Amino acid sequence: MSEDWGRKCYNHIYPFLNCSFCSFSDFSGIDRLCDNAELAAVVEWLKAEDESRLERLWQAADQVRRENVGDGVHLRGLLEISNYCVRRCAYCGINTERKGLQRYRMSQDEILAGAGQAAEYGYGTVVIQAGEDYGITAEWLGEIIRTIKSDTALAVTLSMGERPVEDYRLWKEAGADRVLLRLETTDEQLYERIHPSSGRGGAGRKEILEACGQMGYEIGSGVMVGIPGQSYESLGRDILTFDRMDLDMIGVGPYIAHPDTRLGGAATGETEQVPATELMTYKVVSLSRLVRPDANIPGTSALATLNIGTGRENALCRGANVVMPNLTPVCYRSMYEIYPAKACINETAVQCRDCLRGRIESLGRYVAAGPGNRVRKSVNGNVLSRLGGLDGGGFV
Ligand code: 5AD
Ligand code: FES
Repeated sequence: MSEDWGRKCYNHIYPFLNCSFCSFSDFSGIDRLCDNAELAAVVEWLKAEDESRLERLWQAADQVRRENVGDGVHLRGLLEISNYCVRRCAYCGINTERKGLQRYRMSQDEILAGAGQAAEYGYGTVVIQAGEDYGITAEWLGEIIRTIKSDTALAVTLSMGERPVEDYRLWKEAGADRVLLRLETTDEQLYERIHPSSGRGGAGRKEILEACGQMGYEIGSGVMVGIPGQSYESLGRDILTFDRMDLDMIGVGPYIAHPDTRLGGAATGETEQVPATELMTYKVVSLSRLVRPDANIPGTSALATLNIGTGRENALCRGANVVMPNLTPVCYRSMYEIYPAKACINETAVQCRDCLRGRIESLGRYVAAGPGNRVRKSVNGNVLSRLGGLDGGGFV
């Protein structure tokens, strides 16, 4: 792959697709492609503090969001179907080492009832999420996906962890539409610290996403903001990687320390530590919109957890266009405790639906109908021209 592969892609209407320079054959080398000038521009915005400058960032992201994905907000109903997990992620409260957590796995009937509720509420998508749970066999979930696809018009998104690519293939054949798998960070050393190997081997997260993209899935990824040890440069590279991977969906949320995890108690000692704040997360949401104008970007529950009053609304006004109301039966919600004090832990599905609709309409936006697939748009300029023009007021 040539060194200037990334830059050449900007000359093409659909970066990475039908492009003679970049066959989208793999993501290897992406890290090398983060152009220094682009990285400097992104980092500068991550460090920006001046309120009037930040206001320009929010407005630019909001404008790019309106022009590329419109005013509709897509609702993706979230079903957390199991909190069993084989992984030992140092940040995550459902990791396999967590003691004293009651584990659950929803039945096929419960999952199908949840999907039925998503359809009945007019959500276009059901997101099926779980820890990496091999008690869920590929065939078992495949049967569920097949039933949802034949009984409803829902898009099916899977967030099932680092399962073998063959499982994802079987689920694609069963009709699944999208895969979410966060990179958490693109900084390899930081990733190794927070994400010890499971000893199972298998493909890494980027490789799984790449394989899923080639199978025809829409692919989504993202990172946590403010992981202990995360520097501004590393977060800047994460944001540029969203562009390089041509992500269909980008989900970012603040890191929230869980006291019963290994990372939960760790002091950082880093001088250039990115803070795990609401403000920093908004910056990442806005910059993600500016680097990937036509992606679907949620206002995440982690953001709502920091600010239940207006966290998601602010995100929707600063580049986001998706919200994921929780459809998990209330009896299981507190057990899916990836971080403490999660938003909406006691609200029923119908309460979340009504609450979110009201919040969206109060912003002058509306709940969008249909599955809400990514609609590719030709993108003006490149990352630098979009970020560089912000201060001059003449951004593309
Ligand atoms: N704080 C914030 N987000 C977390 N996630 C897991 N643990 C935490 C935490 N402590 C996020 C990860 C994961 C997604 C399902 O939830 O990004 O990919
Ligand atoms: Fe769940 Fe508001 S979104 S209660």
